[in-house]
Amino acid sequence: MSIPARDRERADALRELLHHHSHQYYVLDTPEIPDAEYDQLFRELQALEEKYPGLLAPDSPTQRVGGKTLEGFAKVRHKVPMLSIRTETDIEASGARNFDARVRRELGLKDGDPAIEYVAELKFDGLAISLRYEGGVLVQAATRGDGEVGEDVTQNIRTVGQIPLKLRGAPPVLEVRGEVYMRRDDFERLNELQREKIARGAKNEKTFVNPRNAAAGAVRQLDPGIARQRPLSFYAYGWGEIEGGPAFETHYELLQALGRWGLPVSDRTVLAMGADELIAYHQAVGRERDGLPFDIDGVVYKVNSLALQKQLGFVTREPRWAVAHKFPAQEQLTTVESIDVYVGRTGKLTPVARLKPVFVGGVTVTNATLHNEDEVHRKDVRVGDTVIVRRAGDVIPEVVAVVPDRRAAGAAVFHMPATCPVCGSAALREEGEADHRCTGGLFCSAQRKHAILHFAQRRALDIEGLGEKLVDQMVDAGVIRTLPDLYRLGLANLVALDRMGDKSAQNVLAALEKSKATTLPRFLYGLGIRHVGESTARDLARHFGNLDGILDASVEQLLQVPDVGPVVAESIHAFFRQPHNREVIEQLRACGLHWEEGEPAARAPQPLSGKTVVLTGTLPTLSRDEAKELLEAAGAKVAGSVSKKTDYVVAGAEAGSKLDKARELGVAILDEDGLRQLLAG
Ligand code: IVH
Repeated sequence: MSIPARDRERADALRELLHHHSHQYYVLDTPEIPDAEYDQLFRELQALEEKYPGLLAPDSPTQRVGGKTLEGFAKVRHKVPMLSIRTETDIEASGARNFDARVRRELGLKDGDPAIEYVAELKFDGLAISLRYEGGVLVQAATRGDGEVGEDVTQNIRTVGQIPLKLRGAPPVLEVRGEVYMRRDDFERLNELQREKIARGAKNEKTFVNPRNAAAGAVRQLDPGIARQRPLSFYAYGWGEIEGGPAFETHYELLQALGRWGLPVSDRTVLAMGADELIAYHQAVGRERDGLPFDIDGVVYKVNSLALQKQLGFVTREPRWAVAHKFPAQEQLTTVESIDVYVGRTGKLTPVARLKPVFVGGVTVTNATLHNEDEVHRKDVRVGDTVIVRRAGDVIPEVVAVVPDRRAAGAAVFHMPATCPVCGSAALREEGEADHRCTGGLFCSAQRKHAILHFAQRRALDIEGLGEKLVDQMVDAGVIRTLPDLYRLGLANLVALDRMGDKSAQNVLAALEKSKATTLPRFLYGLGIRHVGESTARDLARHFGNLDGILDASVEQLLQVPDVGPVVAESIHAFFRQPHNREVIEQLRACGLHWEEGEPAARAPQPLSGKTVVLTGTLPTLSRDEAKELLEAAGAKVAGSVSKKTDYVVAGAEAGSKLDKARELGVAILDEDGLRQLLAG
């Protein structure tokens, strides 16, 4: 068949593009486009090559299973090739039906024949790894590489706390396969650290695009010392070579045996009869996806019987007995329509990317915060750019990277405005600070609006019905300038506003009246003092007992309050030294705001004050939040990571790298019973 020039050129262009992107992805760990986009290009090329076999070249990216090996690691030839898995393109329920129908057809089953038993698993979004145990001891770990030859990453894998160095009761030779991944919380913390390093001027540091990328980067990091600072997790889902040991008949039994031998296996793996139960699993996992502590990009279905697996065999490099059924992508491409600057309650200016609406991670995203000017420059986001947007779990959507070769010529570098976009006051960035702030204070109507909304919110003065629209109107009309003005409103002021009837106006006045009876913590929180959140407000109220004590407290006295450090103490002190803030407080009291006051709390003895505790793993009866609450009530500080300053690590089941770190640093390790004894003093 002759090949039209257009198709030949397109195939060449696709090959070029795919080579470029797979190099970025596999070798440099710096992808420039989301996976979904890569898959689409890949499928387009595959379709062209299927249509015109003459186009097929041996070096086509479609002819390779996985990535490429990185210079610097020894090569490992897999005894049993590490296969790829076919992806069901249909995201809807029919994906599971198509797979079941294919399997039944291959096995020669008819309509009335019994349903097939499957194992349904999560499709973890990380990096495939093969672990070789000999005599129960981990002797080698390898990446998949191209499926035939991978990289020897044993040194790095040994640093992963969840991967046992020794198994109990395993066969003499066991090659386990599974996924190394990074939990979302570990990923966020890692990027936080990276950002700090960059802010301190470290060269050659970068933030990671997503947990999978961070995990891949860590495993394939040439320096095991650096690899060990990147918290990784692991789930086993299969095996390669097995020699000796008991015989197994099903995939499920083998997974359970892996668990008994000491390997982490997911407790979300289930047996499913026929297509209906696969569909039910796909839907249930789809609903739970956001709440999982790690990213998944779909589910995997596998025929449970090993005999049937054998009978089904393979097509090219994909088994006929397994399929991946994906979920909507958590990363998408879109364009930046503008970069607006938003003014917050404390005057902080935040650049926000307004995006062409895009459906990602199950929601339509129209804007994403860019945090501050440095962040915009680090990612080099410009108006008109094509960007990768990520939304995973309940994490807010983020612009993770720009696609450099889709930038229009002449796209301008973003600069923070020198003046506040709302009030025109100077916008300044203080030495050593990342944020620009409007210097207008309560002269700035944006700050005034936020201050009033903050004061009125449910957790502060709880003024029902005083929402954003109403506050906007009142501030714009000049009816309200300061907080006490709220309590001087009359019916006439309110009904003069747009769309405000008699009844609604009366409701607002009633809500204002009701809010006058409040509590000291609510009042303090409502003032909007920088760094004073609800819990600090509660601590202050408990410590001092009454407002006057707080108004006149010195920085030293404020530092006596549990959890109040120098920055917070300074901020509180500075706030109350401002005459106009004192004036506002006096006027609010004069308007009738009141609360119960008391004496300074005689501090109950706190057995754990000054102690730092880290929680890891799952405790038998206490949830993590419960344990944290108990510890904090006893005066302890609960930290997220283990350091020399940690006094105790409380470890439960499936405790990971934090436990290793504790052992390494010689930090005291407790189980739940130990924790209870500690709390009891
Ligand atoms: S089974 C022969 N099960 O998805 C079947 N793979 O190409 C081999 N993956 O990168 C794969 N979760 O690492 C299997 N529960 C799971 C999986 C899983 C994630 C990854 C795997 C590979 C890709 C499949």
